[in-house]
Amino acid sequence: MSIINAYNLSKSYRIHEKQEGVKNTIKDFFNRKYTYKDAVINLNMTIEKGEIIGLLGENGAGKTTTLKMLSGILYPTYGKVIVLNYTPTQRKKEFLKKIAFVMGNKSEINWDLPAVDTFRYQKLVYQVPNELYNKNINLLAEMLNVKHLLNIQLRRLSLGERMKMELINSFLYSPEIVFLDEPTIGLDLNSQIAIRKFLRQYREERKTTIIITSHYMDDIEETCDRVILLSKGRKIFDGSISEVSRLYSTNKVLQLVFDKAVNPLEFAKYGEIIEFKDNTLKLIIRKEQYKSIVTELIGQNRNITDISITNVPFKNIVNQIMAEGRIS
Ligand SMILES: Nc1ncnc2c1ncn2[C@@H]1O[C@H](COP(=O)(O)OP(=O)(O)O)[C@@H](O)[C@H]1O
Ligand SMILES: [Mg+2]
Repeated sequence: MSIINAYNLSKSYRIHEKQEGVKNTIKDFFNRKYTYKDAVINLNMTIEKGEIIGLLGENGAGKTTTLKMLSGILYPTYGKVIVLNYTPTQRKKEFLKKIAFVMGNKSEINWDLPAVDTFRYQKLVYQVPNELYNKNINLLAEMLNVKHLLNIQLRRLSLGERMKMELINSFLYSPEIVFLDEPTIGLDLNSQIAIRKFLRQYREERKTTIIITSHYMDDIEETCDRVILLSKGRKIFDGSISEVSRLYSTNKVLQLVFDKAVNPLEFAKYGEIIEFKDNTLKLIIRKEQYKSIVTELIGQNRNITDISITNVPFKNIVNQIMAEGRIS
């Protein structure tokens, strides 16, 4: 059963063009000039219950705008979206109780209070019955390993711990859909890993639908079932993580280790250089060229001490799809 359906969903922001100078400011007031920015263009997508979707794209691709339209914070300029059989912008109480929106760069929680006070307030707002509240707080705090921190003023906690509290605050009323906008931004690696693990585990238990945007490809690769790629407001790819890899299974990463310094650019003709450090060079090459490249390199006596071949990292695949602007 699809729980999110978007049809030609589009958002165009109206931007007021300001001219400099006092005279122009007065003139502007009577004769406002506007330009338009197409942030999301004809987005069609369907999301099933229980899916974890990664929404990817460069800065300004339209990810946050999409999440805001799905949650009803923003009106679409064109097109339509139905979420759990509701029109999000109507912001009906029953609808709001079924969704949660977490922004990694904007805290919803008062840092002067301990987390537990905020949770009690949230419980009132969302009318969570005692039993469910206690069960959820216990489960969530346990999963995120912050049980011992619930009574400590939030500003005394680390960034990662605060984000975990933010997540508990949003999950404690058992929403059916959770929108996470850059939830791990700026967090230390351990917190990132803990949050990824939490999201997957929680989804297994509750079948919650999760839509996540992130700059960190590891977040997406390890957490999501499916990725939707946006570029300049348009959807350019929609498919499973394994499909992404299959599309690019024609390429491999060739790793060469040298026993002395080399100029990496001498190897650029074989493929795309993706890393060069500590005398180790990583190149994306076409799979079928592996043999001939290796034979050539060995023949040239290039001071190579080790050669190995691995799969192309997810991050590079995504970058390549974006660079090509592939249409799904
Ligand atoms: N309130 C706004 N007014 C005007 N333009 C905006 C506004 N919010 C976002 N934009 C523009 O819309 C585009 C998409 O923004 P956004 O959805 O925030 O992208 P992302 O989250 O993928 O980085 C960008 O070009 C951005 O500058
Ligand atoms: Mg954004």
